[in-house]
Amino acid sequence: SALRSAAPLRQGFASSRLFSSSSIVNKNVAVLGASGGIGQPLSLLLKNDPLVTELRLFDVRLAPGVAADVSHVNTPAITTGFSPENDGLKKALTGADIIVIPAGVPRKPGMTRDDLFNTNASIVRDLAKTAAEVAPKAHMLIISNPVNSTVPIVAEVYKKAGVYDAKRLYGVTTLDVTRASTFLSGIAGLKPSEVIVPVVGGHSGVTIVPLLSQAGSASSSVSAGEQYEKLVHRIQFGGDEVVKAKDGAGSATLSMAYAAAVFTNSLLRAVNGESGVKECAYVESPLYKDQGATFFASPVSLGKNGVEDIHPIGNITGEEQKLLEAALPELKKNIEKGVSWVAENP
Ligand code: NAD
Ligand code: LMR
Repeated sequence: SALRSAAPLRQGFASSRLFSSSSIVNKNVAVLGASGGIGQPLSLLLKNDPLVTELRLFDVRLAPGVAADVSHVNTPAITTGFSPENDGLKKALTGADIIVIPAGVPRKPGMTRDDLFNTNASIVRDLAKTAAEVAPKAHMLIISNPVNSTVPIVAEVYKKAGVYDAKRLYGVTTLDVTRASTFLSGIAGLKPSEVIVPVVGGHSGVTIVPLLSQAGSASSSVSAGEQYEKLVHRIQFGGDEVVKAKDGAGSATLSMAYAAAVFTNSLLRAVNGESGVKECAYVESPLYKDQGATFFASPVSLGKNGVEDIHPIGNITGEEQKLLEAALPELKKNIEKGVSWVAENP
């Protein structure tokens, strides 16, 4: 079945009729970094997701305020805020089924995502340590950049704690799929929901590899040469477009919150037993392991226990092969940086 990322969220009152109340299993979602640019709109979108029954909002600042605000929305999810005082992080994580992490600093113009490594690596490591202790079986969704490195960091922390399950750790790359759908559908003159582009590799610059040849009827609307190259560049550097437009005030937050809510909703549906749920995600992967890319984003089938199947990228064009070849060495470097950093900074 097709990737779902480009489809609008099935949320709110209309969509809740799709589920009988007895089919809704209790699901507890924790957001770490909930008061930030991504965290606040993400918390709101999760509050609006009928599959979320409990919402735990943690941040080093303001989370009780954000939770008080969001909690007044008249949807079922019981919403609570937690501060670092009095073991707030542990309390927020106890009983969590899904943990979404957008904690960390965003880029300013002129920075790469890797420039965030020094600050965000330790934030993600410390949150992962507590999660490994308190909620080792929860699904971990990592948004904090640089995703190519922060996901391997979480894996190493979990391995060290003896609780690592590769099927439950995801780097959220849904925003790349969302952007590819938006940009290509604009060119093709089709509805975004009809244009689904798998995006594989990683989540930064040249590691982002859009497979425009696999976008169905929209594929043929892009002419080879300059138009194709511009579109690929826009998908690979869509984040920079937002960083530049925000002019020092941060990076994508609203589109990211949307993308993370879409991915979380897909995972919730899969965990609740829906079959055929497929999303692109950055996961520990056998696909390009022999080239050092031990983590790789590709379409994955999601099920009750998380990643059920990692799908190979399928037939690609010569141009896409070149993009992949440029992505792999950079990805390998980013992964090794995360792994060796944890070894040196346990
Ligand atoms: P922001 O600065 O607006 O928010 C970050 C939040 O994290 C703040 O509220 C801050 O208090 C909180 N925080 C910091 N340290 C924390 C800790 N130890 N525990 C809990 N919370 C903590 O930033 P933002 O715009 O929301 O971006 C957050 C991260 O997401 C950045 O690293 C950014 O690069 C990344 N990002 C990723 C994607 C993606 O596609 N994966 C997209 C956009 C942004
Ligand atoms: C994005 O793709 O928008 C995010 O990774 C944020 C950034 O730094 O560009």
